[in-house]
Amino acid sequence: MCGIVGYIGDKQAQSILLSALSMLEYRGYDSCGIAVVSNGIKSYKNVLRVAEMKEIAPQIIGTVGIGHTRWATCGEPTRVNAHPHFDCTGNIAVVHNGVITNYPVLKQKLINDGHEFVSDTDTEVIPHLIEKYYKGDLEKAVELALLDIQGSYAIAVIGAGENKLVVARKDSPLIIGVGDRETFVASDVPAILDYTNQVIYLDDGDIGVITGDGIKIKKDGLEIHREEHKILWSVEAAQKAGYEHFMLKEIHEQPKVIRDTLSEYTQMSEPIVDLENLREDDRSILILACGTSYNAGLVGKYIMEDLVGVPVRVEIASEFSCYGQTPEKTLAFVISQSGETADVLKAIRKLKGVQCHVVAVTNVVGSSISRIADQTIYTRAGPEISVAATKSFIAQLMVLYWLAMSYSKVDAKRLADILLELRQLPSKVQWMLDNGEDILQCARYLARFENVFFIGRGLNYPIALEGALKLKEISYIHAEGYAAGELKHGPFSLLGENTPVITITGQDSTYESILTNIKEVKARKSPLIALTGDGDEAIKEFVDMVITVPRVDPIFSPVVNTVALQLLAYYTARERDCPIDFPRNLAKSVTVE
Ligand code: AGP
Repeated sequence: MCGIVGYIGDKQAQSILLSALSMLEYRGYDSCGIAVVSNGIKSYKNVLRVAEMKEIAPQIIGTVGIGHTRWATCGEPTRVNAHPHFDCTGNIAVVHNGVITNYPVLKQKLINDGHEFVSDTDTEVIPHLIEKYYKGDLEKAVELALLDIQGSYAIAVIGAGENKLVVARKDSPLIIGVGDRETFVASDVPAILDYTNQVIYLDDGDIGVITGDGIKIKKDGLEIHREEHKILWSVEAAQKAGYEHFMLKEIHEQPKVIRDTLSEYTQMSEPIVDLENLREDDRSILILACGTSYNAGLVGKYIMEDLVGVPVRVEIASEFSCYGQTPEKTLAFVISQSGETADVLKAIRKLKGVQCHVVAVTNVVGSSISRIADQTIYTRAGPEISVAATKSFIAQLMVLYWLAMSYSKVDAKRLADILLELRQLPSKVQWMLDNGEDILQCARYLARFENVFFIGRGLNYPIALEGALKLKEISYIHAEGYAAGELKHGPFSLLGENTPVITITGQDSTYESILTNIKEVKARKSPLIALTGDGDEAIKEFVDMVITVPRVDPIFSPVVNTVALQLLAYYTARERDCPIDFPRNLAKSVTVE
């Protein structure tokens, strides 16, 4: 996790570093800091959010600098553990995102050589190693230091009196933003969108040296050329645009996300994934992901098995990467909004080891996952800043629907109906967004409880999981998602007046069964909130509150139900005064295992 930035140009670095850092807080926000080349190096860091830092940091004059916003992995969030970290002389400063796995050994050797450490972090070994190798050439010293290091890193380094930034990456993201007489470094694109839309994506093993004269990139000791790419995201796409929180803005963007993703893929003449051979060879599909992306994968299983008729296995990437078995040559889809999730990257490496064909579904162009997969399908959600995934989940579902429909074996009439419904989906989601009064009422009610169950069946079982994940993530209410039929196999012992149950009531063959489950829950006195289709009067007799969603073809019920549950989580968290976009202990891009 963590966000790093760097600047070199003709403007004062401090305000640019802080504004860029504020766009990376989704990567971590335990503490932050900057260092600027300024008659030596001057630095300010503390256990603060970037906005507070902007208010109180002393002004440092200088046009070359680095910055960091932290998600603590090694060492508690304290001022001393905050980045940048320094060597003994204070002449070398480093910001780092990643984990140095052999730091205990390196640290002990450096201590034996007389180096003094002040923090508990793994990062601090980097400036000390650079100091050890420094003989007047910062670039050379960084190169040599990196040879000693094991683990993952994206780093930016400055030296006293040096008019340059030295950067490097391995298994952690790093981009270079190319401006007019100024250059930026960042963990991710939103940090630099205010200044430039031209970026260079660094690859693993790249070391870059950025000076007033230009950008030099080396790999394995040889100078190489990396293309510049134009970013199509607008500055506004990464701003709140008047919404109270990024999450609310991102929820409201979903009708557009559905349109954008569909118009992109329905215009393709060639299917990009060969599912035909798969069916003939009698093989299966494997889907791997974490968190919300895993829940999207579970929905994918239901729709692909239904429409394509091939068996689909869905696995949690962190489990699979360590313990999973897979037949050779399986077709695997890996789903990751950020494209940087360490557990997913590890799973891909394992799959490639047994010659599986890996298709990445990600929202971030140039992300690590897209670089190592065999093929990439991009979701068109635009930048998602809030830690809670919303529009990226819906965009992932759209890709999965599109894949399933492209290879569908259902009859033409059914397919035409599905397509028609798909075209109406943005306006139905818009209806949800415009008519959320019942959701707000339920949220006000829910906010007083500490334990909640979400239940669903079939296609809406993953939506129960997603509803619970969203609620616990941002409102800090303990929430569990369950297959409705499972509740009686244990969780019933927890039901009662203080444990509401939210039922996702599909308008399909699951309706009667879930009604039975609702009655069972009612008999245990749990308050009941039902999400159900417009016009379902019958259910009101059995539940305490109803959230109405528009009627859709049952195959698309996960879309409208998810949007309702996102709003429910959002309003509940707001009612409880939680920091919605940046929930405690979390980060958007989980780059540690
Ligand atoms: C969702 O709200 C969470 N922030 C989290 O579960 C997330 O989906 C998970 O960490 C996976 O991230 P990815 O999609 O970027 O791989």
